[in-house]
Amino acid sequence: MIIAMAIVFEKETKTFFLDGKGVTYAFFINDFGYAEHLYYGKTVGHDDLRYIRGRACSSRDATIPGNDRGGMNCYHYFPAELAFFGTGDYREPAVEVINPAGDRLTELLYDGYEILASKPKPSGMPALRDGETLVLHLKDKTAGLACDLYYTVYDDAAVVARRAVYRNEDAQRRLLRRAYSFTFGLPSQNYDVISLYGAWARERRIDRVPMHHGVVSIDSKRASSSATLNPFLALAAHGASEEQGEVYGFNLVYSSSYVLKVEGVNCGRTLVTGGVNDFDFTWVLESGACFETPEVVIAYSSDGIGGMSRAFHDAYRNHLVNPRYAKKTRPLVINNWEGTCFNFNNDKLKAIAKAVEGTGIDTFVLDDGWFGKRNDDTSGLGDWVVNTEKMEGGLTEIIRYVNSLGMKFGLWFEPEMVSEDSDLYRAHPDYAVAAPDRPHCYSRHQLLLDLTRKEVRDYIVESVNRVLHENNIAYVKWDFNRNATAFYSMGRAPEQQAEFAHRYALGLYDLCERIVEANPNVFFEGCSGGGARFDPAMLYYFPQIWTSDDSDAEERTYIQYGTSLAYPLSAMSCHVTEVPNHQTGRITPMKTRADIAHLGATGYELDTSAFTDEDRALMKEQIKEYHSMERLVLEGDLYRTASPQDSNLFGFMLVSKDKQEAVLTVYRRMGSVNNEYMRLQVRGLDEDTEYIVSGFEKTLRGSTLMNLGLMPRFPRGDFQTATYRFTAKKA
Ligand code: DGJ
Repeated sequence: MIIAMAIVFEKETKTFFLDGKGVTYAFFINDFGYAEHLYYGKTVGHDDLRYIRGRACSSRDATIPGNDRGGMNCYHYFPAELAFFGTGDYREPAVEVINPAGDRLTELLYDGYEILASKPKPSGMPALRDGETLVLHLKDKTAGLACDLYYTVYDDAAVVARRAVYRNEDAQRRLLRRAYSFTFGLPSQNYDVISLYGAWARERRIDRVPMHHGVVSIDSKRASSSATLNPFLALAAHGASEEQGEVYGFNLVYSSSYVLKVEGVNCGRTLVTGGVNDFDFTWVLESGACFETPEVVIAYSSDGIGGMSRAFHDAYRNHLVNPRYAKKTRPLVINNWEGTCFNFNNDKLKAIAKAVEGTGIDTFVLDDGWFGKRNDDTSGLGDWVVNTEKMEGGLTEIIRYVNSLGMKFGLWFEPEMVSEDSDLYRAHPDYAVAAPDRPHCYSRHQLLLDLTRKEVRDYIVESVNRVLHENNIAYVKWDFNRNATAFYSMGRAPEQQAEFAHRYALGLYDLCERIVEANPNVFFEGCSGGGARFDPAMLYYFPQIWTSDDSDAEERTYIQYGTSLAYPLSAMSCHVTEVPNHQTGRITPMKTRADIAHLGATGYELDTSAFTDEDRALMKEQIKEYHSMERLVLEGDLYRTASPQDSNLFGFMLVSKDKQEAVLTVYRRMGSVNNEYMRLQVRGLDEDTEYIVSGFEKTLRGSTLMNLGLMPRFPRGDFQTATYRFTAKKA
């Protein structure tokens, strides 16, 4: 039996071919020992691809050091796997290092390779799991700096995962001023840059602008991946649409300050680079030490933006999210936050839980306010001890009650924070991030704990794990409600202070290893004052993340649409909440709220103690409906059929991998009368299969449905949904 290798080195042409699901990535080692990019796109044969090389530009660029002859003799001309600085390349470098003599030169050239059957985990950082991996060794013989480039491909996802490790092989220390994860090149500039921008309650709106000469850049300077700009961008060929055209997607597996850049280079090519933000960054690289960079996942699609999303979704569900939970039925929660805020006692909580007994809700989640002296958001963070004044009988009593109703119990924490009015702050004011002699900047009245310090992390691990070990807790919501300021760590040397943002990420991952990974039977949901830290690194630890504090169905169509560009529906925690909506004041029908919330890991968040029997029956019906489509949410392919940013409609179609089942949810924002004729798009079905379509008495072929579409039937009024189920007719 011949086992096909995903990664091959063709000796004659010195070309590396990496074959993933439907894609080939290729580069070769040129005569100067430079790793020169050749191709990433649809699968191609292992031909000699070097024929597409071309002298890109003949301006007066500098020669390769020590090589004063003409022709292709300049680093600036080569499509790069890793661009470096000071030796004739004027593009955005991936690395800048200050050498002991004060020069900033690097020349990282080929020094061998290894092909590993399975990918090693980066130390102290999350990354995609599994996958055959190429390690390309590069070395600067003069500067004593080495770099390993990691490339991983998968047979079940059209992505390449890349990262770089920089190593100081010299006897003297060096200062890294920039240490990005990758350089990636494309042969033209015919692309639009798509990014996801936003703010609290308005996360991940889609921006699309044509790229140009010079640099288009997105970043975060918050020591959090942020709601401002998600660590994602895509390059879509001009004119590429949801299901047509070439699209490349870039997503950093990182939760702190990052940067992603797209450079239109003067030679007509495009260079993409990024990783840890080099703004407010230096890193002391001691002799023998290495700096590991976060991974970037690069998706390829020839089937438009939708194809790119499906590539990311496959990669994340198969290789990023904890396999224990990735495709497993999720807890279906009732959360008390929007129902009570801080204003609750045991009786109120019990009434909320009792009201949903028998509806299909399986987990009761107690949100903020159960600990310390926490009656509003000015106090208590850091004191992870139950407030028995509010919660008579402690956690034991409410957990016992919830369990007696046949439900599991979940609890809210915000482990990275401290309130000034807390026992923790009174005992250890130095645990909060601050700069010497400067007053604090506050956000939601709270301060950030200095996760770069081990003793601070030890306190958090001990106090959170104690609550988890002493109580029957099946679920944790891990919140994070403010960004860093000061970017300073007490006790660290002055020349290491600009390491703060990256060290914060490493501290956070260490916490996650010691709390999340150490409690494998507890299901963790991520959260960040809504969805402000919705990134692949958090998804590695938290199988789902609270998508936004804005739970209004209309607003959620934008937020969930944008989020789905990179992240699978199973990653989005979506709750049915009260009306008028707490954030927008809008009233939408209960059915609409449920239909939109069911396009993710669904749950409920409202004061059910006021429920009538009718409300309860409706909830039960909705949960039954959700369970009947949950497999599609967890494992199906997503086809976006209408964008709320472009129209009065929103449409998501979920199709099972075997194309035997599908569901289409369409939402119409504004109702109107005497409407124009309208058809809905149907996508992703098998052309030859006959489908029974719910709501019709007809059986129709996939080809018919996908080409003719459907005529929507919305109920009268604004903010209405229509849902269709497609079931393959058994032969
Ligand atoms: C912000 C979260 O996004 C909310 O869901 C809620 O948990 C509050 N924090 C509690 O303070």
